[in-house]
Amino acid sequence: MDKFIIWNSSLKGEVEVSGSKNASLPIMAATLLTDEECRISGVPNLRDVHTMIKILEGLGKDVEFQDGTLIVKSKKSRSYTAPYPLVRTMRASFCVLGPLLAKRRKAKVSLPGGCVIGPRPVDLHIKGLRELGANIKIERGYCLAEAKSLSGRHIFLGGEFGPSVLATANILMASTLAKGETVIESCACEPEIVDLSFFLKKMGAEIIGEGTPLIRVRGKRSLGGAEFTVIPDRIEAGTFLAVSLATHSPLTIKNTNPLHLTSVIEVAKKMGASVKINSDSLSISPPSYIKPVSITTLPYPGFPTDLQAQFMVPLSLAKGVSLVTEKVFPDRFMHVAELNRMGAKISRNGPYAIIEGVRSLYGAEVMASDLRASAALVIAGLAAQGKTEVLRIYHLDRGYSHLEEKLKKLGAKIKRER
Ligand code: UD1
Repeated sequence: MDKFIIWNSSLKGEVEVSGSKNASLPIMAATLLTDEECRISGVPNLRDVHTMIKILEGLGKDVEFQDGTLIVKSKKSRSYTAPYPLVRTMRASFCVLGPLLAKRRKAKVSLPGGCVIGPRPVDLHIKGLRELGANIKIERGYCLAEAKSLSGRHIFLGGEFGPSVLATANILMASTLAKGETVIESCACEPEIVDLSFFLKKMGAEIIGEGTPLIRVRGKRSLGGAEFTVIPDRIEAGTFLAVSLATHSPLTIKNTNPLHLTSVIEVAKKMGASVKINSDSLSISPPSYIKPVSITTLPYPGFPTDLQAQFMVPLSLAKGVSLVTEKVFPDRFMHVAELNRMGAKISRNGPYAIIEGVRSLYGAEVMASDLRASAALVIAGLAAQGKTEVLRIYHLDRGYSHLEEKLKKLGAKIKRER
């Protein structure tokens, strides 16, 4: 297993963000809706992308991946099973369910199982597909779905914790081949859903309302191939904002859409940073000291839960007390104990974390528990005095493309050891 060794660093310069992981994965699943060739560019070279390639190959697709471009072609296979060994490593694989059901009328997809950021049910996915007319059974850890045909309906997709991103993706994809009109109410408004919708439209789907809480889809008999480029990764861009704040480093973040980061930029400004916004880049000048703030994670356009852990690092170094409220995944605080081992003063109470700013963090051996928590520990290592070792960075390799190379180019002292 690889680990990172990191020393206190001052960074400077420009960094280029990769294509979005969370946009790429559902778009890859959407290629199951057609037998024609799809060409998708800007796809990051990540472990999760390779897992989705394996799933597509198992389902009879022929996938080439070179220089960020995926070419997906169809072979004769009509397989409809996404097996547990692949699905358990990546929850996003569950979104092959909707396209398989819509195109092949049958799907057998392993339930994704638990995850360290808390319970992750799939009830909304199943509810939506049932309302479109699917028969769904859960048997021996698999979701078995069948439908002679799917028919458009008015579906309310809101859940206890707000809309679900991947349930929206699943229902949206399935409804493109359903008879008549589907209305998805209280759906996710995330930019990754908008990107998926744009891809589906390129395949010939008729969709309006993406990016709002109500999407309308008029089903088609079939969809064709498409060429597409995915959006830049807003979570990677936000991670570099947190790096800049925590290490007092002026950075320019290129290949990003600042409109996808409005809530995050607002928080960075409240923390004292000055942020210059261009059409596809951001330049951030960190403050001489960080002001404490309150952050509440919410579905888009609120502050993303996927940046909560990373922003806790600069808040640990703020002058005063900050409050973080986690409203999307109330148990997503695995990083707190590790940050406290590095000298942070964070106490957790249910979905709240109270962060008392300290003068400095110090290096320690810490353990990455999930993707975004790993990024937080790397940021903490760059900001801390002395040497930090971050173990189990395979989590990080799931979602950040060439992170250590990018950080090194900015002047970070970081190395990977096997
Ligand atoms: C996606 C993102 C993930 C991000 C999350 C929230 C991908 C590949 N992953 O995950 O990085 O952290 O959105 O922005 O895009 N829920 C239910 N029932 C369901 C489904 C979800 O109650 O059937 C709950 C979840 O437990 C959670 C909330 O809804 O509390 C939001 O989760 P959801 O949007 O579904 O997350 P994902 O789509 O899995």
